[in-house]
Amino acid sequence: KTPDSHVPRDPRLIRLTGVHPFNVEAPLTALFDEGFLTSPELFYVRNHGAVPQVRDEDIPDWELSVEGLVENPIKITLRELMTEYEQVTCPITLVCAGNRRKEQNMVRKSKGFSWGAAGLSTALFTGVIMSEVIKKAKPKRKAKYVCMEGADLLPNGFYGTSVKLNWVMDENRGFMLSYKMNGEMLRPDHGKPLRVVIPGQIGGRSVKWLKKLIVTEAPSDNWYHIYDNRVLPTMVSPEESANNSKWWTDERYAIYDLSPNSATCYPQHDEQLCLTNAPETYRAKGYAYSGGGRRITRVEISLDKGATWRLANVEYAEDRYREVEKDLFGGRLDMSWRETCFCWCFWSIDLSTADLATSKDIFVRAMDESMNVQPRDMYWSVLGMMNNPWFRVTITREG
Ligand code: MTE
Repeated sequence: KTPDSHVPRDPRLIRLTGVHPFNVEAPLTALFDEGFLTSPELFYVRNHGAVPQVRDEDIPDWELSVEGLVENPIKITLRELMTEYEQVTCPITLVCAGNRRKEQNMVRKSKGFSWGAAGLSTALFTGVIMSEVIKKAKPKRKAKYVCMEGADLLPNGFYGTSVKLNWVMDENRGFMLSYKMNGEMLRPDHGKPLRVVIPGQIGGRSVKWLKKLIVTEAPSDNWYHIYDNRVLPTMVSPEESANNSKWWTDERYAIYDLSPNSATCYPQHDEQLCLTNAPETYRAKGYAYSGGGRRITRVEISLDKGATWRLANVEYAEDRYREVEKDLFGGRLDMSWRETCFCWCFWSIDLSTADLATSKDIFVRAMDESMNVQPRDMYWSVLGMMNNPWFRVTITREG
């Protein structure tokens, strides 16, 4: 029995940190096979502690307070959020900064647990554009940051972090206060009844079980803002980082936007490819994403360790959603006007069985519209976050 015994969970999810707290990813192929939208059952979960218990009948009275450097501090109930503000719905991919950390831990143990490449998921999120709520509270001139705090009380206080106020106010960035995923009220693991959802930034900024927005002049001083979600310089060892707090308090090392990343889902590392009686080609496929609303503009595959590259096909299912969003949510506001990309995309390439029979591995790398490209080499850091070197799978032939 754990503090989360009240929370229903899918047995297919792979536990990454023992019994409690709950940190899980789906098997990579199961996640990929679900397609563009991930069902709530297989959506990855990253909880730092116990899930706050909220009874359904208490949802409308859940209170969010907006305070700090504002002319007009307000308290808003979820009922008011749902009825007095414009509601928007759009697909958003959330990615944990620890996605692919396992590869870092294999090189040198980091301070985090071993995510595979399924620490990401996509859902249709419904809620209110966050800037609408902040505008109502009227930030003062000096205001620069928005601190967010959840209801989960952890060993070092409530979970909290901050983002820049000017990002929140830019509607194209899609910062949202969300209460629904794929048309149903949020499930306990994903922030029931209210959470922040920030497209294009690491999942750690999308605070769940949201209770407070505090407008400030400086970044959050919450323990989890300072000691989590950072890429410290590579030479800082676990011991050095434990002995010297200067590494943690330097806001330059805090992670916000995701960087370009990709993974191969077919074939799998341990998949036995039968090439003898197979068709002429094998279709390799996987996913890619970037951050800050930037679109992936190419995905490349190498069968010779990066000496030469071939272009894969890239499919942006998000574009089709843009077109149908209006119809899907009849009457409700869509966000099809956004110029930014909020979701993952899929790549595929047909490889000849002859090529596969003579190659040792498949490398993949993605590039975004700002020409940010995945690096060849790993940048190891003490928290093992933002791991995005070329993704490699070994080709295993049957027989
Ligand atoms: N918010 C609160 N209150 N507590 C948490 O533990 N974890 C964060 C973020 N928001 C967390 C939180 C992290 S690190 C991630 S990656 C995302 O929630 C995960 O969201 P999900 O569990 O819905 O996938």
